Amino acid sequence: MTRTARFDPAGPLRGEYTPPADKSISHRAALFAAMCDEPVTVRNYLDSEDTASTLNAVQALGAGIEDEGQNCFVIRGVGLHAPLEATEGLLNVGNAGTLMRLLPGWLAGQPGGVWTLDGDESIRRRPVDRVAEPLRLMGAEVNARDGRFPPFTVRGAQLDGIEYELPVASAQVKSCVLIAGMTASGSTAVIEPSPSRDHTERFLRGARVPFEQDGPRMTIASVDELEIDGVLVPGDPSSAAFIVAAAILVRGSRVVVKDVGLNWTRTGLLRIAERMGAVIVGDLEPPGTQATDEPIGELDVANGPLEGTVVEPDEVPLAIDELTLVALLGAHADGETVVRGAEELRLKESDRIAGVVEGLRGLGADIEATEDGFVVRGDGSPLAGGTIEARGDHRMAMLGAVAGLASEEGVEVVGMDAAAVSYPGFERDLRALV
Ligand code: S3P
Repeated sequence: MTRTARFDPAGPLRGEYTPPADKSISHRAALFAAMCDEPVTVRNYLDSEDTASTLNAVQALGAGIEDEGQNCFVIRGVGLHAPLEATEGLLNVGNAGTLMRLLPGWLAGQPGGVWTLDGDESIRRRPVDRVAEPLRLMGAEVNARDGRFPPFTVRGAQLDGIEYELPVASAQVKSCVLIAGMTASGSTAVIEPSPSRDHTERFLRGARVPFEQDGPRMTIASVDELEIDGVLVPGDPSSAAFIVAAAILVRGSRVVVKDVGLNWTRTGLLRIAERMGAVIVGDLEPPGTQATDEPIGELDVANGPLEGTVVEPDEVPLAIDELTLVALLGAHADGETVVRGAEELRLKESDRIAGVVEGLRGLGADIEATEDGFVVRGDGSPLAGGTIEARGDHRMAMLGAVAGLASEEGVEVVGMDAAAVSYPGFERDLRALV
């Protein structure tokens, strides 16, 4: 079903807003809880299509899931080491790239098991060779279609620790190797080229496993058991980003965002927007904390004029899911906004460089694709409006909605239903603030 929704120019966004739970942290909460021997209570688990796929997957592997209501789940894990209940079979990850990349890290270290991970049309276009390579080096037998795409088959083995330098700053690949390291003999080291989201590291510290970090180098040793006391999932800064962008762009807006995750590795967009002139007040976490807990806080965001900026490659992983919003802010800013080093955007739920360039150009933006990002020029006035295709991508759908509110004539989003992958209540929340 493809649903078209119209977003007309709006009066100011005003009031308080609580974003839905964090998708990245919810995936990890379900996976790590499933690896525990003792039950783990997860509060504020994200209610979305993607995170339902993770609950279904861990259930298929033998974990018990008790729904306590109000997005609280008790997860009765099967323990880190096999035997898992299903020692073979098909695991459907739906649209969830994080599940597709993290779960093989666990399965690869389960000798005797063989699983095939598959999902929707979009996931079948997303590369898994990035996790296949390190898992193979550790001794697992893995097979992907054309060596690169799902379906992805993982045959578990007794793994050996490796030292692995990540070719791209990817939290998913980093997490996969660290998870595999928990069942591998010896120690496993992962070196990241620049910081990316660190939720896995926080879970590992919290689960009392032998994990250490020295700048970009992380090491983990094998462990018998994980211990997790309980998880409270913060609000998702990537979901809140759409409301934040709308508040920045729509004249007269002022929105207070409550209970949102303020982890430094996730707040790149807020720093970029501030540099462009946006007024955002909040207790953002400083860099390099190596903390265990996820910081949760409040943001106060107001509308104001913007100037163009340059986003450098090191900033990209810290705003990876919000870079299409940087394009939208750039289209409304005075001057030129350039995003560099973001070729990873071509490998997301859709090719987001093509999507944002063609999409915003259709609404009147002066925007061009580059090999590794885009350049957008504005004169401080709003986009005209028109029609934008979500391309089956939740974040492209939400981008179109925000573009509509900030536009002169409104925007029609074709495929608005895609938003349910991460944010089923998005339209309701957005319209409630107008
Ligand atoms: C995620 C990491 C990022 C991000 C994705 C979620 C995660 O992907 O784009 O939405 O939860 O680890 P990459 O690791 O491919 O950069």
